[in-house]
Amino acid sequence: MTLQAVPEDRALPSDPSTPENPAVTGVPARGSGRAGDALVATASRLVSGGRGVLAADESPKTLTERFDALGIVSTAETRTRYRELLCSTPDLAESVSGVILHRETFLAVLPSGRAFPAFLEDLGLLAGVKVDTGTAPLPGHTPELVTEGLDGLAAEAAELRARGASFAKWRAVIAIGEGLPSRACLVANATALARYALACQVGGLVPIVEPEVLMDGGHDLERCAAVTEEVLTTVFAALRDLGVALEGMILKPSMVLPGKAGPAASVAAVAAATRTCYLRSVPAAVTGVALLSGGQGEERATTHLAEINRQGPLPWPVTFSFGRALQDSALATWRGSEDRVAEAQAVLHARATACAAAARAGMGQPVAL
Ligand code: G3H
Repeated sequence: MTLQAVPEDRALPSDPSTPENPAVTGVPARGSGRAGDALVATASRLVSGGRGVLAADESPKTLTERFDALGIVSTAETRTRYRELLCSTPDLAESVSGVILHRETFLAVLPSGRAFPAFLEDLGLLAGVKVDTGTAPLPGHTPELVTEGLDGLAAEAAELRARGASFAKWRAVIAIGEGLPSRACLVANATALARYALACQVGGLVPIVEPEVLMDGGHDLERCAAVTEEVLTTVFAALRDLGVALEGMILKPSMVLPGKAGPAASVAAVAAATRTCYLRSVPAAVTGVALLSGGQGEERATTHLAEINRQGPLPWPVTFSFGRALQDSALATWRGSEDRVAEAQAVLHARATACAAAARAGMGQPVAL
């Protein structure tokens, strides 16, 4: 397999303000708060019809840890082969609209000679790229983290668009603990998310805005609900301040859940708390909500998604953008063997189909105003 080198920096020259640059199709009309047609159409395609987004953007380090646990050799080739087999699952496009990739995969060229984004396009899947560069300590607020990667992002977004990306992702992580999260952590991460989202929209990419409240800790459902509401309210205030077009973005939040070491909550209680939290803090103009799984496990994440939709109408489609909750069983089935590719694909197909059914659980109901 031939792989193109992953650039070490973002020196990807492109002028997003050049009228003849096709990458800028869909730039939101600044000042009006309205997204361009192309961004709205892409955002809508990502979340409509009960389809969701496959998050397959683990860093080489994280995927290597998952491979190591199963005895799979981790190289750029095996990591790309793994993503290739996931995406070429027969009929995946019936339940999955797009795939979030790490740059390593996005820039890969397959043995067929097809670049990875073109390969996805052939399969009817949109290509997305995780553009943040990971977390760093938030100065003065140890142990809290802020996500980085804004340098050069506007130019990179336009370049990624030109290379076949339709959307991007940026993940912020918020921990709950004694005295945590701090207001500083929420504001720093919300501001970064808003700057990222604006750079993407100007560059022609739909931003997936992912503020994840972590499940680590012994907090209860109510505490997670209060924190998540404050996180989302802060994020949307920053998005508004920077003029991000809500109609041309996707929100990827965590569900409202008790901490892993906290008191258990029923499926109905989790769904009700999640719905209430989002209804209070997510503007109706947002194109869609695509949930992360956060380490809940496949069955649990799918059941929660279905119940969130079953409990009644919501102003936006609520679908999935799971990583582990889509991939875990498929990866464990594959275990690096070409002999088990079809079996692993069948496992992924079954999980993605169940997730899409959960996303469709609330369809056909009018929005209550
Ligand atoms: O950044 C995290 C992924 O986008 C979602 O992964 O569903 O395993 O939490 P997860």
